[in-house]
Amino acid sequence: MGISNLINGVIEHIVIHYRWVLVCFFLLPASFVYDIYTYIRTWIVFHMASAPKLHDKKVKDVQRQVKEWIREGKKVPMCTARPGWQVMSFRIPKYKDTFFNVKVNLVDILEIDVHRQVVKIEPLATMGQLTATLEPLGWSIPVLPELDDLTVGGLVMGTGIETSSHKYGLFQHICVSYELVLADGQVVTCSKDQNPDLFYAVPWSYGTLGFLTAVEIKIVPANRFVKLEYFPVHSMEHAVETFQKQTMKEDGNQFVEAVMFNRDQWVVMVGNMVTSAEPGKLNRIGLWHKPWFFKHIESFLRSGNGLEYIPLRDYYHRHSRSIFWEIQDIIPFGNNVIFRYLFGWMIPPKVSLLKLTQPAAVKKLYETQHMVQDMLVPLTKLKDSIECFDRETKIYPVWLCPFRLPNDPGFLHPDGNQEEMYVDIGLYGVPKVPTFNAEATTRRIEKFVRDNCGFQMLYADTYMTREEFKKMFDHQLYDKMRTKYQCSEAFPEVYDKVNRTARS
Ligand SMILES: Cc1cc2nc3c(=O)[nH]c(=O)nc-3n(C[C@H](O)[C@H](O)[C@H](O)COP(=O)(O)OP(=O)(O)OC[C@H]3O[C@@H](n4cnc5c(N)ncnc54)[C@H](O)[C@@H]3O)c2cc1C
Ligand SMILES: *[C@@H]1O[C@H](CO)[C@@H](O)[C@H](O)[C@H]1NC(C)=O
Repeated sequence: MGISNLINGVIEHIVIHYRWVLVCFFLLPASFVYDIYTYIRTWIVFHMASAPKLHDKKVKDVQRQVKEWIREGKKVPMCTARPGWQVMSFRIPKYKDTFFNVKVNLVDILEIDVHRQVVKIEPLATMGQLTATLEPLGWSIPVLPELDDLTVGGLVMGTGIETSSHKYGLFQHICVSYELVLADGQVVTCSKDQNPDLFYAVPWSYGTLGFLTAVEIKIVPANRFVKLEYFPVHSMEHAVETFQKQTMKEDGNQFVEAVMFNRDQWVVMVGNMVTSAEPGKLNRIGLWHKPWFFKHIESFLRSGNGLEYIPLRDYYHRHSRSIFWEIQDIIPFGNNVIFRYLFGWMIPPKVSLLKLTQPAAVKKLYETQHMVQDMLVPLTKLKDSIECFDRETKIYPVWLCPFRLPNDPGFLHPDGNQEEMYVDIGLYGVPKVPTFNAEATTRRIEKFVRDNCGFQMLYADTYMTREEFKKMFDHQLYDKMRTKYQCSEAFPEVYDKVNRTARS
């Protein structure tokens, strides 16, 4: 007994502390090969223009599967067949094994319409794919969530945000129309003018109103560089003030974010697109041998205000290589200059592959000693929120990203009758307070957020009860749409897909 415990202990130690061996020798090369494959595939499909012709056929195939589900007597609810380990969440949904799996094999960019200024795109296309295709043509989308592997479908059905969100809103607010296959097998398109109720109910519905088959998104002209200014601030009061001032600035900044390195040490960053760079101030932060971006940001705390010109695509995907700062717990020496020059080009490992190969010991560690949460609160509550999260977790760095929340109908809207400025507070890392308890701490934070008219992003663990969940998210329109489109047998409710026991 004693010996086997000892052996287990040693194995656990190796698995946790030497995970980088697996990551470096297997995961990184595999991720790299996969990226090259998708890049080449996208290029060929887009340039041969074969996707639009195939689209109708693929949508018909989704309809065929839904009709098959009806014919077979609607025995269990439906979900997409995308395997749980592939999605960008640290959890794996349990329902995939028991539900009727519908293959939604829609992975391409369909059309760029420069007259209407929209791009039509299929739900499994990723952000990395989209920037690689749009940028050479001189276009971009107004809100471009930065991790390359985020999918259009996941960002619509879940949430997406970026540093331009204080101008344009969340990912859902730059969408012009959705094409869906409903529970009865018919295809509908919805927009502000056509089936508006459905249009406003789709975001955050997590695939519980229908299968998304295409999305039209606004495009905006893109310039080559982002002129990025760094403002290090050394007291919380001053930092909150600077952040609010830059967010609300009259003539507007295009991009605003802040990273907190502790309660009183922040770097506020403000960016604007420009066509050329001042000589000597260009920084291609996306190059493989460059330091992790959050480390680069931190250096301004010592050196004072900074100004750099960053190529647009490097800017968009600035936190990709280090998965914000999650990578430091996976490859602790990854920011070492020798490692970066030798292996940096394979970074980052795919979150999906990390999950697929995650041993039980690491999973347990992530469950009990790690937190990943994005909390969305009114900007006026920023200071109170930080005090609360600091008291409860002391997780640093913290990501801050402001966003405009219009007073649209649907799952989330401001408390008053008008649009309001919010801020996404991202907590990713190891809690440093001895009292941390995954469930109890998260529940206290959730209560704080609910009491302050805030929202929790649902890719992360939620410990709320059904009643608390309904208090946070307005279910009125959603329930109406579920009745109208006969969803009760076809799809579970959002809560039943995202609650803590629904995921492993
Ligand atoms: C490490 C990490 C980093 C992150 N970084 C960012 C970030 O930088 N910016 C940001 O905005 N967000 C970020 N997120 C959160 C992210 O926005 C959500 O996870 C989002 O849901 C996108 O994930 P996905 O593309 O893997 O979608 P999925 O998890 O695959 O999908 C989300 C939901 O939508 C449903 N769905 C997807 N496609 C369809 C379809 N075609 N039809 C019907 N239903 C569908 C799925 O059933 C699922 O319930 C991050 C999350 C993690 C774990
Ligand atoms: C969570 O979802 C499952 C279905 O996936 C449901 O059975 C369960 O009741 C939900 N949990 C709570 C606490 O209601």
